[in-house]
Amino acid sequence: MGDTLTILGIESSCDDTAAAVLRVGDTAQTLSSIVSGQGELHDAYGGVVPEIAARAHAEKLDHCVREALDEAGVRVRDLDAVAVTAGPGLIGGVMSGVMCAKGIAAGAGLPLIGVNHLAGHALTPRLTDGVAYPYLMLLVSGGHCQFLLVRGAQDFARLGGTIDDAPGEAFDKVARLLALPQPGGPSVEAEAARGDATRFTLPRPLLDRAGCDMSFSGLKTAVLRARDGVMTDNRLGRQARSDLCAGFQAAVCDVLGEKTRRALEIYLSETPERATLTVAGGVAANGAIRARLTEVARGAHVDFVAPPLALCTDNAAMIAYAGAELYRLGQRDGMELAARPRWPLDRTSPAMLGSGKKGAKA
Ligand code: KG4
Ligand code: ZN
Repeated sequence: MGDTLTILGIESSCDDTAAAVLRVGDTAQTLSSIVSGQGELHDAYGGVVPEIAARAHAEKLDHCVREALDEAGVRVRDLDAVAVTAGPGLIGGVMSGVMCAKGIAAGAGLPLIGVNHLAGHALTPRLTDGVAYPYLMLLVSGGHCQFLLVRGAQDFARLGGTIDDAPGEAFDKVARLLALPQPGGPSVEAEAARGDATRFTLPRPLLDRAGCDMSFSGLKTAVLRARDGVMTDNRLGRQARSDLCAGFQAAVCDVLGEKTRRALEIYLSETPERATLTVAGGVAANGAIRARLTEVARGAHVDFVAPPLALCTDNAAMIAYAGAELYRLGQRDGMELAARPRWPLDRTSPAMLGSGKKGAKA
């Protein structure tokens, strides 16, 4: 990559306030990565409340940045640039981050770089494993679900994505239907381990349609119907709950597995010389889903790279890393940098439907 850059990254697009300092030369070194979640602030509301999130970000950002600099042993004057998530996401939170970054950049006379949050996720396998371009990324979280052909830090093609809910959102909603704790992913996965995935017949949405678009909202409704069918006196038995979780998780695995197989087919038809499947997002923590993706990659004879969980979920190290790549490409943003609630990575693709509880999907 050439000269070594010391770069501060700031992330505040959803419900995690994060700051990180990276040193990026031929390889990338994470000097610090601070993530402060807001889970407890939103628990009572059953989802992220944008106004509460924005206020909490505004309060916490300075502390996170200070902690990130201290832990890295770096002063503001040692920095070469400030990178910040400028979208997509919940607009109040994104604005808090952009204002904070502008303040630091203006005060210290540093270049400012606006980063697309999805690019941060999509470039993470380069930060963690030095994966070379091009590669295929499945981004699966509470707010995002898409297949991206990653050709460069500014060059993405979306091969498909959800037309309604993201899978993490579906896990969270199913957990709520079954009175399991939030976030739903880990609790549904734990229940599924003791369940029979074949007891309930649940749909595999859009598998009958060509291409790699996905849908998860009908699946959640099917779980609701199946639950109502086995409740007696408004009570759901423990085994039925586990069986519903196992059935739901198996359906998500089948959909993600088959759509990934198709996305890989498209990717390999365009770029047979390079073969890597990567994944990012909180849902990548799911053991059954990881196992299925590993199987699909093996079947297609491609490598599979899944970054460690702390870098799959929202963090600022990925924003600093993406910022460093964009800096190398000459990107500089001034004080006019705007926060964008929607910002598709692939400008040639139509906007995705829905906006989800965690903000815009693209
Ligand atoms: O990437 P992330 O931390 O935040 C964003 O959505 O941007 O992902 C959080 C999502 C939640 O919906 C959570 O339920 C899901 O990831 N998740 C899981 C698991 N762990 C977290 N979903 C399925 N299985 C898991 N083990
Ligand atoms: Zn994210």
